[in-house]
Amino acid sequence: MLYQWAAEAMKAYVPLEEKQLMELLEVPPSSNLGDIAFPCFILAKQFRKAPQAAAKDIADAFTHPYVHAEAAGPYVNLRFDRDYYGRLMMEELDQGSMPDAGNGIKVVIDMSSPNIAKPFGIGHLRSTMIGAALYNMYKLAGYDVVSVNHLGDWGTQFGKQIAAYKRWGDDTALSLDPIGESLQLYVRFHEEAANDDTLEQEARDWFRKLEAGDEEARKLWAYFVEVSMKEFNRMYQRLNVSFDHTLGESFYNDKMQPVVESLKEQGLLEESDGALVVRLDDEGMPPCLIIKKDGTTIYPTRDLATAIYRHDVMKADRLLYVVGSEQRLHFQQVFTVLRRMGMDWADSCTHVPFGLMKFEGKKMSTRRGKIVVLEKVLDEAVARAMAIINEKNPDLEGKEEVANAVGIGAIIFGDLKNNRVNEVNFSLEDALNFDGETGPYVQYTYARTQSVLTKGAAAVEATHEVAAPDAIGEMNILGDSGWELLKLLTIFPEQLLRGIRHNEPSVLARYALDVAQSFNQFYNKERIVTDEQSTRSARLRLTHLAGASLSRTMKLLGVQTPDRM
Ligand code: ARG
Repeated sequence: MLYQWAAEAMKAYVPLEEKQLMELLEVPPSSNLGDIAFPCFILAKQFRKAPQAAAKDIADAFTHPYVHAEAAGPYVNLRFDRDYYGRLMMEELDQGSMPDAGNGIKVVIDMSSPNIAKPFGIGHLRSTMIGAALYNMYKLAGYDVVSVNHLGDWGTQFGKQIAAYKRWGDDTALSLDPIGESLQLYVRFHEEAANDDTLEQEARDWFRKLEAGDEEARKLWAYFVEVSMKEFNRMYQRLNVSFDHTLGESFYNDKMQPVVESLKEQGLLEESDGALVVRLDDEGMPPCLIIKKDGTTIYPTRDLATAIYRHDVMKADRLLYVVGSEQRLHFQQVFTVLRRMGMDWADSCTHVPFGLMKFEGKKMSTRRGKIVVLEKVLDEAVARAMAIINEKNPDLEGKEEVANAVGIGAIIFGDLKNNRVNEVNFSLEDALNFDGETGPYVQYTYARTQSVLTKGAAAVEATHEVAAPDAIGEMNILGDSGWELLKLLTIFPEQLLRGIRHNEPSVLARYALDVAQSFNQFYNKERIVTDEQSTRSARLRLTHLAGASLSRTMKLLGVQTPDRM
């Protein structure tokens, strides 16, 4: 809003279009200087004057009923009339209008995507949290978003899994700890296969049967999928994440042949050591493996079929893949092969990579199917949150729910506040610090806005005021801290779009921290629930808007904001 207004006010004094102006405008380094600054360097040529002189000329000539201009070196600093613009800002904020940047563009987000019969790893956790946040962000900006959990439920390892199960499987153990037991079977397979050639052959036979739709193979495979899904769903429930589609790699089983044919027809497939590959030497990449020596398909083959399906059948305009940085090369290869096949839409495929996450400085090993390791982290976070609540506010109603929201929220926020490609060194203690840059800090601030509003409502009632409780009141009464907060609240749409442009939820996590900090400054500086009606109305109104902004932003990130803490 401010940029728009600043551009409108400046338009008469500089030979630039409004749009160009908007791009040049800046927020001054200190709010003492003004609300918006226009740097005059670009005018030096046109005015044949030093930028300093150009700034002075503009400031001297400037007249506007509600905007004041002042030259400071090469900048023109603009200051807005707080009462006039403050009201406009509050009205716009109330409407909560959002840019329709998406305009119906369809975005398919590949997220979470754990592997059946393997542990749900930290990478899958990060993919789930980052993917869910991106999903919400795109949706709010008017995109038509679809999330897909691309389960790793296909591949030769399922042949091994079945072969091992047939020899040593134990249903009771499997139902008790499906992933642990599956992994044990898998490990045992490899141990015994070292001395027993028949095992590998058995596994190959089973996978071939599976690919051919053999009933027994299918049944066993479905059983593995089912027990693993049960485990994964527990995680999803706790994170409060769901998917529009759960379409594993197996879904593309019958969609790969046409891809392989087409690669062949286009002369892109070459033999290499008995396998079929697409050479990518010109791009400085190793070849992309399409058909293994034993004639079976592989991960990239399935991703080719998947991308084509998402584009052709799901009608995706953009394809996002929220997958760890270690798969960068894989996606480069897949996208390049698509381009080679003449699919120019390959340019709308984006790998959204993220870094490793360590817990308390340690790389967490999910060895031997200990998916529970991750669940334990969640449990621990909730338990610690509960301990803090018991200390701070032991009589709080609904403590369990609040502890859950705070503990899980601390983990989600502790991840999302980081630039996603960075390695995250996660410490539960830091993530739960109510005074740090944390989820609980933002949640606590939100709860503070709600308790101020409750007090405000009580005060209004006590005085039997006739004015509507949402009357705007007097803006100048907000003080500098209130004015800064109000300005910050208005830039939410820009932050949302920036987060989308970079596929970066941290933009919004940082924004939530800024708003929380700014509200706390306002809260500490100004008495909000004053006796004087118009002062109180304005301040309560601002408090309400800050609370709404905090809860909306946190919700986008997948973090709940309890009213009381
Ligand atoms: N299941 C894979 C893994 O755990 C991730 C899949 C990512 N998505 C994709 N379309 N390749 O490594």
